[in-house]
Amino acid sequence: MVEIVVSNPFVVGKYLSDKYFCDRESETEFLRKQIINGRNVALISPRRLGKSGLIHHLFNQPDICDHYYVFFVDIYATSSLAEFVYLLGKEIYEVLKPLSTVWKEKFFQLIASLRVGFKLDPITGLPGLDLGLGDIHSPETTLDEIFRYLAEADRPCIIAIDEFQQIQTYQEKNVEALLRTKIQQSQTTQFVFAGSKRHIMSNMFSSPAKPFYQSAISMGLEAIPMDTYADFAIRLFEERGKSVEREAIEKVWKLYDGYTWFVQMMMNELFALTPENACCRASMIGEARKNIILSQEGSYKDLLAIVPPKQKTVLQAIAKEGTAKKVTSGAFIKKYNLNSASSVQAAIKLLLKNDIITATDEGYRIYDYFFSDWLATEY
Ligand SMILES: Nc1ncnc2c1ncn2[C@@H]1O[C@H](COP(=O)(O)OP(=O)(O)O)[C@@H](O)[C@H]1O
Ligand SMILES: [Mg+2]
Repeated sequence: MVEIVVSNPFVVGKYLSDKYFCDRESETEFLRKQIINGRNVALISPRRLGKSGLIHHLFNQPDICDHYYVFFVDIYATSSLAEFVYLLGKEIYEVLKPLSTVWKEKFFQLIASLRVGFKLDPITGLPGLDLGLGDIHSPETTLDEIFRYLAEADRPCIIAIDEFQQIQTYQEKNVEALLRTKIQQSQTTQFVFAGSKRHIMSNMFSSPAKPFYQSAISMGLEAIPMDTYADFAIRLFEERGKSVEREAIEKVWKLYDGYTWFVQMMMNELFALTPENACCRASMIGEARKNIILSQEGSYKDLLAIVPPKQKTVLQAIAKEGTAKKVTSGAFIKKYNLNSASSVQAAIKLLLKNDIITATDEGYRIYDYFFSDWLATEY
């Protein structure tokens, strides 16, 4: 395997390799066990804790990537079955493209409806798939063909569908039932359904009235334990000839409740701020935090510009509180000059729906910690 070297070892936003990936050993083992034993998995946790990373990590394990074909589709931005089928078809083609197998050669033969996308590269003469969304005329037919194609694979397949709850919002009403039938019929393909909307996901998989009822093993994800993460961060600093105070890492972990993306962002910035051969100290956290917030300010302003005024005042109140309890109480309404309990409730509902805030056991908080910081202190 080619060794990937990056200048900052705190990788954010993508999966590189084992080396830059912290722990998740028991979770990887659990996933592996389900898949190897022919069970599908529903992986449910809040956003940015590490679901997608965990799936890529599993796919990167030698016993998995050497014996299975693995496919990953993120359907967060899709709104119809046509888009779903489009992404799935493209992903399968992209994964198979570099391989030379008899199975690959049958792609356009068995998925006849995607033949419109078949192109020969004018320079290399090699075949490629150049597909537009508009080329999917009958999504159900293409879906049938894709599943028929998968059934002929010369290895078992694993398909991970990220942000799976999205299929509930599709224009077509029967997508869940349709997919469930297809998935149930596939004997050699295992599925991982990942999703961040706990209520919707739980409902899809544990409600007897739903097509996906009992069709997958449910799995949650917690934050990486603080000590484990600290050991990992210390190693990454030391490998690059720098050091870091354990206290600094622990402070960061606690500031962001161990939410992987935010912790990694901060450690990435702290690493960047630490000179060669020097030690990263807890006193640098303030500067790191400020730098990150400044670098994101543009997108925060864009986001705020599309939040209606009534929601904005509630949003700012929540930011000031950090975690807001009893948001419809007289005290809270008075403290932040809000309209009425019912208008607060209406605003909360929309903010939740748009993923701007999240409900925790302790109360509501703004889902993006950096955005929350910015709203509370800079805005
Ligand atoms: N175990 C890990 N070790 C190091 N970084 C991780 C780990 N898990 C996730 N990350 C980082 O956190 C970010 C958010 O994780 P991601 O898997 O995208 O979360 P989710 O899919 O739950 O929203 C990733 O982009 C990655 O940079
Ligand atoms: Mg994800």
